[in-house]
Amino acid sequence: PANTTRAADGRLSLAGIPVDELAATYGSPLYVIDEADFRGRAARTRAAFDSETARIGTSAKVYYAAKAFLSADIARWVAEEGLYVDVCSGGELALALAAGIPAARLGLHGNNKSLAEIDRAVGAGIGAIVLDSLQEIDRVADAAARHGVVQNVRLRVNSGVHADTHDFLATSHEDQKFGITRADAPAAVAKIRARGELKFLGLHCHIGSQIFGSAGFGESAARMLELHRDLLAGGDIPELNLGGGFGIAYTRADDPAEIETLAADIADQVATEAVRLGIAVPVLAFEPGRYISGPTTMSLYEVGTTKDVSVALPEGGTAIRRYLSVDGGMSDNARPALYGAQYSARMTNRVSAAAPALSRVAGKHCESGDIVVYNEYLPADVVPGDRIAVPATGAYCWSLASNYNFLGRPAVVAVLNGESRLLVRGETETELLARDAGLDKK
Ligand code: LLP
Repeated sequence: PANTTRAADGRLSLAGIPVDELAATYGSPLYVIDEADFRGRAARTRAAFDSETARIGTSAKVYYAAKAFLSADIARWVAEEGLYVDVCSGGELALALAAGIPAARLGLHGNNKSLAEIDRAVGAGIGAIVLDSLQEIDRVADAAARHGVVQNVRLRVNSGVHADTHDFLATSHEDQKFGITRADAPAAVAKIRARGELKFLGLHCHIGSQIFGSAGFGESAARMLELHRDLLAGGDIPELNLGGGFGIAYTRADDPAEIETLAADIADQVATEAVRLGIAVPVLAFEPGRYISGPTTMSLYEVGTTKDVSVALPEGGTAIRRYLSVDGGMSDNARPALYGAQYSARMTNRVSAAAPALSRVAGKHCESGDIVVYNEYLPADVVPGDRIAVPATGAYCWSLASNYNFLGRPAVVAVLNGESRLLVRGETETELLARDAGLDKK
C-alpha cells in the first residue's frame, strides 16, 4: 500500500497507524486496506482512460471488477471516484445495490447467470448485461419484456487473443468456457437486434488477467474493431468493451506497465485501426479489478511456530530454510496454492539486527501446499509472537477466501489519515457452527 511507513523502532504503519495495533484491535489474520491508495488508484485509472480516449475523440466507461475485492464501502469508494461497477453474480449485485450504487452504474457478467439473477438485474434497472451465450439472448429479452423495459446488453466474444502475464498468444484461444466465437457473433448480434426488448451496446472481450504489456490488448482491440465494423452494416454500435486484466507487481521481480502507458497504447491502437477500417471510434469500456485493488491492501499474520530445515541447493551444498507458520494461510489467500503466486513479506512489530534468513511463510492448514510466501529473506531471529505483513493482497485473496478447516474468514479494515474502520467483520466460530443443521436445538 502507498501509505506504508516504518518507524525507527521497526514498527510498520499504514496511513499513520502501527499495523500491530490494528491486529490487536481487530484480530489476526487481518486484511488492511489503505483507503487513500484505493481511491487514488481508482481515480487514476479512470483519469488515464478518460484522457487517452478524449485524445482519440471518444470517451471511456471504467468498471471496477468487483470480483477482485468487494464490500459496501469499496463499492462506494469506486462509485464516488466516478467508476462503474462490474458484478458477476446475484450476490455481488445484491451487495452493490444494498450499498446504494445506482443500478444504472452496474454491469452484470457471468457465463451461466440464473433466471433469478437475470430477472433481478433487469428488474433493478441494471445499466448493462454482458450476454455470454446464445441462450441468454432470449432469457434477458424475456425478462425485459416481463418488466416492460428495454435492456442494454453487450455480447462477450473471444477475440482469439489469450494473454498471460508477460506474453500473449495471438493464436486462436476459443476453446474456453466464456463468450462465443467470432464466427458465431454475427448471428448472435442479429438475434439480439431482432428482439425489441434489447439494445445492443456493443461487443465485449476479456483476454486474461495479470497482463504486463499492452501488445495483447492492442491485438485484441484490433480484432474486435474489425468485427465491430462488420456488424455496423446492421445498425449503430455505440461501445466496445475491452475488459480488464492489467497486471500489478507482487514481488520486486515484477515490472508491469503502468495504467497511463497501457491506456495510451490501447488508445493509439484503437485510433489507428479505426482509421484503417474507416469507422468512428466507439466509446470504450474497461473492467480493471486487480490493478485498482491489488496493491492497496496487506494481510497481517502472527507467527506461531518456526523451524529450520536444511535444503539442497541446485548448485551444490546446502542452505537453511526457515519455516515460519502463521495463523492463517490458504483459507485467506489461496493464490499461492492455486496459481503458485509469489508474494513478499515483512516483519511489522520490531527492529531486528539479525542477518536476513531465507524464510518460507506457511499457513496453518492441513496440507503441505498451504504456503503464503514461498521465499523471502526475513530476519533470522523471527520468533513466535512476531507479526508479518504480506503486501499486495487486495485482489482475489479475501474474495477467494474459504472456511477450509473451519477457519473463519478474516475481518477487513480500512485505514485513512490515522483512523481505522471496520469494513467487514471476521467470521466467528459460532457463525460457522450455526450453519450445521446437525447441531440444531431439537
Ligand atoms: N472482466 C472480466 C470479464 C473478468 O473475467 C475479469 C477477471 C476482469 C474483468 C477483471 O480482471 P483483472 O483486471 O482483475 O485482472 N483469481 C485469479 C484472477 C481471475 C480473474 C477473473 N476475471 C487470480 O487470482 O489471479
